[in-house]
Amino acid sequence: ARAPRPAGIGAMDWPALQAAVAGCQACRLCERRKNTVFGVGQAPAAPGQPPRADWLIVGEAPGENEDLQGEPFVGQAGKLLDNMLKAIGLDRHHNVFIANVLKCRPPGNRNPEPEEVAQCEPYLRRQVELLQPRIILAMGRFAVQSLLQTTEPIGRLRGRSHTYHGVPVIVTYHPAYLLRSLPDKAKAWADLCLALELMQQQAGS
Ligand code: URA
Repeated sequence: ARAPRPAGIGAMDWPALQAAVAGCQACRLCERRKNTVFGVGQAPAAPGQPPRADWLIVGEAPGENEDLQGEPFVGQAGKLLDNMLKAIGLDRHHNVFIANVLKCRPPGNRNPEPEEVAQCEPYLRRQVELLQPRIILAMGRFAVQSLLQTTEPIGRLRGRSHTYHGVPVIVTYHPAYLLRSLPDKAKAWADLCLALELMQQQAGS
């Protein structure tokens, strides 16, 4: 039998939150996962502290490689994401945190179900509260629609800033989609530039 999601997520510190995700049995994805995928970033400055992350990247859910390795975006899409980050002077181990809407892999990489997203959302929300990123880059329909609580397509949401619990959100296409859609790579590049501009404006103000 499964156990309900742990109580008090909103008061957890970073290590407690990591442990809660690692042991989560709140939805049926726990039954087939090999690993939970909490996220990856910079090593914390002190034990127990959240990592420094001005940038938070939010994807959809772990795929097969991520499930095996316990780290987000380690497959083909991850390589593209790393290159996208590099193009704006970033990398996943410095001042960036990468997480997903779902911490467990949906079988066969099927789409996340609303119940799974609902069960997992408090973890991402607490990650945001603890990380206090200056910008969130939401990648792909699931990240975008669940963070922004909308059913609007990405094409109608890109090009301007939104917010998630007070943090500016820039939306763009998912790297796995960009691998198949060359024309939208140019749009994703524009989205990255917009995010960078927003950060520079913040730094200058
Ligand atoms: N796709 C995602 O959305 N997240 C991952 O971690 C890997 C692939």
